[in-house]
Amino acid sequence: MSPPEILISEFAGYCWGVERALDLARDAAFNAKKPVCSFGPLIHNPEVIRQLEAQGLSVIEREEDARSGTVVVRSHGVEREVIERLQRRGLHVVDATCTFVKAAQEKAARLRESGYLVVILGEPAHPEVMGLRSYAGPDALVVENSDMLPGELSSKRVGVVVQTTQSQERLAALVGALASKVRELLVYNTICNATEQRQQSAQAVAASVDVVIVVGGRNSGNTTRLAEICRAVQPNTHHIELPDEIRKEWLEGCRRIGVTAGASTPPDQIEALVAHLKGVAS
Ligand code: F3S
Repeated sequence: MSPPEILISEFAGYCWGVERALDLARDAAFNAKKPVCSFGPLIHNPEVIRQLEAQGLSVIEREEDARSGTVVVRSHGVEREVIERLQRRGLHVVDATCTFVKAAQEKAARLRESGYLVVILGEPAHPEVMGLRSYAGPDALVVENSDMLPGELSSKRVGVVVQTTQSQERLAALVGALASKVRELLVYNTICNATEQRQQSAQAVAASVDVVIVVGGRNSGNTTRLAEICRAVQPNTHHIELPDEIRKEWLEGCRRIGVTAGASTPPDQIEALVAHLKGVAS
């Protein structure tokens, strides 16, 4: 019997924003004023974080833990005042906020300045959303889905911005629910292409295989969402961080194996997974 076919999703692994953040961070680790740290883990991939630490980039969790040298702001961005405060304390800041996140922040600020009540579709505790909220103003609402909208809104003029990694379906549902509650609705669809491309190509792969392996950090929101999307189409879907987590029984009787990876998964981890699959499935 011939070995199963392995189908790799057309868009899998690092997105443009993550690659840029990593380039800026590595450059800072070598060339910028020491010590160099990032405010929160640069990406949600434990293996890559270990490599960066070995290159001299440590991770701090609180702003006040940066005392000298250089702070790298990761692709999710930070709250409005953070960069200013760090610079005022004499720290050098390398701003690796992704351009798509910056655009969403600017749109949230513009809506606020124009008098709209800003509704943010996103995970309230996610750093990107916390950053967006600081631009959207103190009365901004953060909802994870349309069911979380209150019965009455404090304004009939509402503007929407979206966490870049949300799904189009959730946005469509939110817009539908808001339409009947307001007089004026301005929607900025700030979901970034990278997310959509990864989600759509993962879904297409999931529909044509017997098992899907999604590789990436368990703490990576976008990887977890990819696994959910694949599982809805192919219940035999598994989210792993390392190839040796793969169990033989997942692959039993499978003729086609699908592989995909979140935007924070490096190419070498995808390659290692494919090599491992070739080994166990042959
Ligand atoms: Fe940027 Fe989109 Fe990646 S917002 S960091 S290109 S997932």
